[in-house]
Amino acid sequence: MKIGILTSGGDTPGMNAVIRGIALRARDLGHEVIGIKYGWKGLMEGLFMEIPYDYDELLSKGGTILYSSRTNPYKREGGVEQIRETFEKNGLDAVIAIGGDDTLGVANKLTQEGLPMVGVPKTIDNDLDATDYTFGFNTAYSIAAESIDKLKTTAKSHGRVLVVEVMGRHAGWLTLYAGVAGGAHAILIPEFPINLEVVVSIVKKRYENPDTSWAIIAVSEGYEFDKKDLEGIETDEFGHVRLDKLKIGEQIAEYLSKEHGFPARAVVLGYLQRSGSPNPYDRILSTRLGITAAELVHEKKFAMMPSLRGTKIVPIPLSDAVDKLKLVDEEHWSVAKKLMGLG
Ligand code: F6P
Repeated sequence: MKIGILTSGGDTPGMNAVIRGIALRARDLGHEVIGIKYGWKGLMEGLFMEIPYDYDELLSKGGTILYSSRTNPYKREGGVEQIRETFEKNGLDAVIAIGGDDTLGVANKLTQEGLPMVGVPKTIDNDLDATDYTFGFNTAYSIAAESIDKLKTTAKSHGRVLVVEVMGRHAGWLTLYAGVAGGAHAILIPEFPINLEVVVSIVKKRYENPDTSWAIIAVSEGYEFDKKDLEGIETDEFGHVRLDKLKIGEQIAEYLSKEHGFPARAVVLGYLQRSGSPNPYDRILSTRLGITAAELVHEKKFAMMPSLRGTKIVPIPLSDAVDKLKLVDEEHWSVAKKLMGLG
């Protein structure tokens, strides 16, 4: 078979390790693999590249060698027909799409139109319901936790409140894990938005003691905001607004300094969270997912994706994976709440 691989959506540490796992296993099983550049855009326009045989380099490399985009073929005139043509013209027998909810949603629709697709779930946000953890999440929250660790030294030295803005869109997983692992004093996530007055009282309490007159607040970019703030903010082809434009960290820092007189500053971790090499945990998870995706294609089990369930990688239907966000649950949140002294 000739198997195309594409990566779509925000890049995630471990994408190249997945590509490696697919290529290595598929080639071993006697298949040909070809890279499709720029996600769905490349599949529409027939943009291909070779997948290298230097597998070692792929394992640890961050980003995606196949490049990515947020192109939605269902938002492009004739997009699906173009994809069908690319399949036919280039003799493609299957495509493996590595992506998050949006990408897997497109892959699922394309399978319903008769195109042979297999998905691989990815996102640093960890918000896909069909898998316990997505690859890249572990690396991303480790980077964010290490950043919080580092920021503590400057916060303490200057007696400041640092409001650290963390990615994650609708889900607070990254902020929660980074906040707990980094020892943030307040954690603000969209699923369980604590009132800012509570944050003020946490900070006030710390400033009552000269030894703890500093604080770190971890806030998710999707933390509750005024919906009217969304007006006029650009959206991508999947209808997502750019949450970084809301500057939630800045808004909270302003509020703490203007309304309550705390020396507060905002720090936006931004793309650093998903840049660089995947950690060993994500390299292993990505490799396992890549190998299983290649085997699914080999067995012609299309419309499926490998998923992490407990400690096992199991194939599940793509249709089970889409449109179901996995949000932070009560049990995880209760840890943060207790750490903040909120019972
Ligand atoms: O979905 C991954 C993610 O990094 C989100 O956490 C973030 O909101 C978004 O992508 C940023 O998107 P972009 O790369 O388009 O700026």
